[in-house]
Amino acid sequence: MDLIAALLPGGPVVELCCGGGDLAARLLASDPSLSYLGLDGSQVMLDAARQRLAPFADRARVHGFRLEEGSWRAGVGPVGAVVSMLAVHHLDTAGKRRLFADMLHALAPGGALLIYDLVLPSAPRAQAAIAQAWDDVVAQQGGEAALRAFAEARGNIYRFPDPVDMPDPLADQLAWLRQAGYANADCFWQRAGHALYGGYRAI
Ligand SMILES: C[S@@+](CC[C@H](N)C(=O)[O-])C[C@H]1O[C@@H](n2cnc3c(N)ncnc32)[C@H](O)[C@@H]1O
Repeated sequence: MDLIAALLPGGPVVELCCGGGDLAARLLASDPSLSYLGLDGSQVMLDAARQRLAPFADRARVHGFRLEEGSWRAGVGPVGAVVSMLAVHHLDTAGKRRLFADMLHALAPGGALLIYDLVLPSAPRAQAAIAQAWDDVVAQQGGEAALRAFAEARGNIYRFPDPVDMPDPLADQLAWLRQAGYANADCFWQRAGHALYGGYRAI
């Protein structure tokens, strides 16, 4: 979240699938000039985000949407950044490519699309290693109880694939960003199957 804050070029931020507003609270606290719109498909999450962001008054708004639909896209922007954490992997390949193209048009010149998400390791051997690396991080951060709960929930998608999770390889996604017209498409951070990546709209 600190790295996303550091990569923001300034201007209003739209977050896709904002959940309970954790990233929003971090960004709004770090920049008093920032205004924010959070979108999510869950009423429970929207209510939680609304409550969490109440201290920021009219700098923060939240609204319902369906990520895969096209209807909301023309109404977004121009903004300084479109950000999203742990949601874009629910779109299939065509859906991701469409989202990248549509969000470029929502960005003001110099604006950024920044995505933190699960990405698919290309080689089967890498997949097993990444699955283990993710378990190791869970154990380091939450101890044995957290690792047990993570296993019972079958949360490690590299061990327990689920059709609702459709991560694509990072290299492919960076190529799609470039093809869509983003400048400086890059991976800014990567660990245990999770990556922060994106690109900027040229000035
Ligand atoms: C794993 S949570 C991540 C929440 C938040 N971005 C975070 O990192 O804390 C995924 C979020 O995406 C939302 N979501 C998942 N699929 C969606 C869809 N197709 N349309 C809209 N929201 C969706 C869920 O309601 C949930 O809030």
